[in-house]
Amino acid sequence: MAVVFDEKKMVFTLQTRNSTWQMQVGRYGHLLHLYYGRKIQDGSLDYLVRGINRGFSGAPYEAGEDRSYSLDTYPQEYPAYGVGDYRTSCLNAEHGDGSRAAELLFDSYEIRKGKYRLDGLPAVWAEDKESETLKVVLKDKSSQVKVVLYYGVLEEYDVITRACQVRNEGEGIWLDRVLSACLDLQRSDLEMITFYGRHTMERSLERGMCRHGKIVADSIRGTSSHQQNPFVILCEKGAGEGWGECYGISLVYSGNFLAEAEMDQIGQTRFVMGIHPEGFRWRLERGESFTAPEVVFAFSEKGYGNLSRKFHRLYRERLNRGKYRNARRPVLLNNWEATEFHITEEDMVSLAASAKELGVELFVMDDGWFGGRDHDRCGLGDWMPNRKKLPSGVTGLAEKIHGMGMMFGIWIEPEMVNEDSGLYRVHPDWCMQVPGRTPNRERGQLALDMSRREVRDYLFESIGSILKEARVDYVKWDMNRSLSDVWSVSCPSCRQGEILHRYVLGVYELMERFTSSFPDILWEGCSGGGGRFDAGILYYMPQIWCSDNTDAVERISIQYGTSFGYPVSSMGAHVSASPNLQTKREMSLETRGIVAMAGVLGYELDVRKLSQDEREAIKEQIRWYKEHQELILNGDYYRLTAVEENPDYAAWQFVSRDQETSLVSAVCLHARSNPPFLRVRLKGLRENMWYRIRCEMFEGRDKQKTELGTEDNGTGGEEAKEMICLGSGLMYAGVNLPVFDRDYQSVRYVVEAVDR
Ligand code: GLA
Repeated sequence: MAVVFDEKKMVFTLQTRNSTWQMQVGRYGHLLHLYYGRKIQDGSLDYLVRGINRGFSGAPYEAGEDRSYSLDTYPQEYPAYGVGDYRTSCLNAEHGDGSRAAELLFDSYEIRKGKYRLDGLPAVWAEDKESETLKVVLKDKSSQVKVVLYYGVLEEYDVITRACQVRNEGEGIWLDRVLSACLDLQRSDLEMITFYGRHTMERSLERGMCRHGKIVADSIRGTSSHQQNPFVILCEKGAGEGWGECYGISLVYSGNFLAEAEMDQIGQTRFVMGIHPEGFRWRLERGESFTAPEVVFAFSEKGYGNLSRKFHRLYRERLNRGKYRNARRPVLLNNWEATEFHITEEDMVSLAASAKELGVELFVMDDGWFGGRDHDRCGLGDWMPNRKKLPSGVTGLAEKIHGMGMMFGIWIEPEMVNEDSGLYRVHPDWCMQVPGRTPNRERGQLALDMSRREVRDYLFESIGSILKEARVDYVKWDMNRSLSDVWSVSCPSCRQGEILHRYVLGVYELMERFTSSFPDILWEGCSGGGGRFDAGILYYMPQIWCSDNTDAVERISIQYGTSFGYPVSSMGAHVSASPNLQTKREMSLETRGIVAMAGVLGYELDVRKLSQDEREAIKEQIRWYKEHQELILNGDYYRLTAVEENPDYAAWQFVSRDQETSLVSAVCLHARSNPPFLRVRLKGLRENMWYRIRCEMFEGRDKQKTELGTEDNGTGGEEAKEMICLGSGLMYAGVNLPVFDRDYQSVRYVVEAVDR
């Protein structure tokens, strides 16, 4: 039983494989948080919550002279504003009389098999036999407002999901803040790890101690954003890959978000997460309800490596849906960095033909194929092929590509419009714009009002008709600006605070319509690279273009940061030209390949300009990747170095589920004169199993002379290409990396179990 209710003590216990979450209905009816952490088999932890009479922290009226009971200091499951808890809250509601208070008291509960669903919102899904739902209804003491808390327990996946719904059964109210979940931890030794960034440099890890006051990671850009990510970790001070207690917290949502940790006056840490209250205001009439998006919690007492692997497995298997959740992903060529907007049918065909010879399976035609789209200031919104560029249309081009034995894909950016477009000329009112104000342009474009049904219908019909007619196997769904000038005719003036969330709901509705109507298409999310890389998108699309930065060194840290909360199978990663378009950095094809092969591999360069040697090398990369794709995308992923701490080299590892096969890659980030020796300890192997470790590739070195030991490995100076070692030796003593003699040199090992 994953959910247990002790009626005598009024204690709810949620059990996963390695963690326990416990809460209790307090003596005056509030739902108190008791514990979340390492598994405790049995028993109530209600002794943990204590109170003393503290100045300036009042008690609820019902407590009478019991001054020790204060909402201002007690840990809670869903704190609300206005009733004596002065810490950050989850709910702030304005009633008809203008008052703002909600004292939420236990009303009822329900435990059932299977996991709850959220109407219109993405969420982790689960089979009935692998999940249970606890529903707890709280009711405001003095109004007809109810809050329904949902807990999904996926025992084997070792995670707990939460969501909530506010229901109003009385006169109309305003919701100014409805966060999804709270985690009240009675400890002051926590660090918060967040992932900040910018366009072309997403998800850099940053950590700092929680201190008195608040630490925030958030976005008010309308999307989850390049700048912060809705995945954070709270961990015990100093925790690392393999050590320390860690809580991973992930919001399954693609719009504005708030993740906030506050340490209170007595050193307790409250964490809340959900839709950002800034700019948010939602009207709830009698009989209406509002659903806040899902938050996924996982706990690990063994550091954040373990935590990441829980999210990887969960998101791959129980967030992703559709055909490509399990199907092999085709290796693609995208034309963007090769031609940008300059598309011609002839060029597309010749690029595809050249790619086909290399073993590329899918040709993707990026931006520039539709309407008058010659540059980024025109054409968005006009979803019909540009016949000057594509005389045979998308349908004809798709036939030609298929005729070569390749799959075919296109780029779209449904949510946007250029003023210089047919759509804007006919429907200038369809974009988000405040009457009487000139809008903010970004990349020369305006955002369509996705809260409007007619806008979404137009997009579904115009883009859908292409997908129906042409044989399209892949679609890249882009979104190239932050939202501003938020205003919509779909709501009266007093309800404009609903628009940003309605925009996201509109996008989800359209994504659901497209992905369910075209289930054979492989969908890839994108927002100027990784500006909307979140769990919400992964419910609709199994992969997301990780960054517009294709420089392999920079990609190492972008993919590293992304891997904390998201699986390798979700990261689109391409080999591009050298020198790199964004950084002008030169890099070998091997190293570009090794980095892109730590994701869903693609190519994004003019393959026609490659030398014969380069073509042979790419053929080999693709052949190799196809052979190992299953292990890379569905195996266990281990970060072997911390990018933020190690300027010298980066290393990572994939291990098969049966722990019999593993791949290890390392890249030198900074070659040193008179270099120190580098050694890396492998992970995830079986201690008592013998493995053959073989250096398969050492960039720039003769294949026959790839080394494993030091330059002199103790066998009289001979260089060992392979060794047989015990798993414990590889993991606890480690493996010597070769002596790198230049920047960005890379090396790859294959590790396989052997009988001995
Ligand atoms: C965004 C994407 C790129 C490319 C361009 C096309 O920036 O992230 O990959 O598709 O748009 O305009």
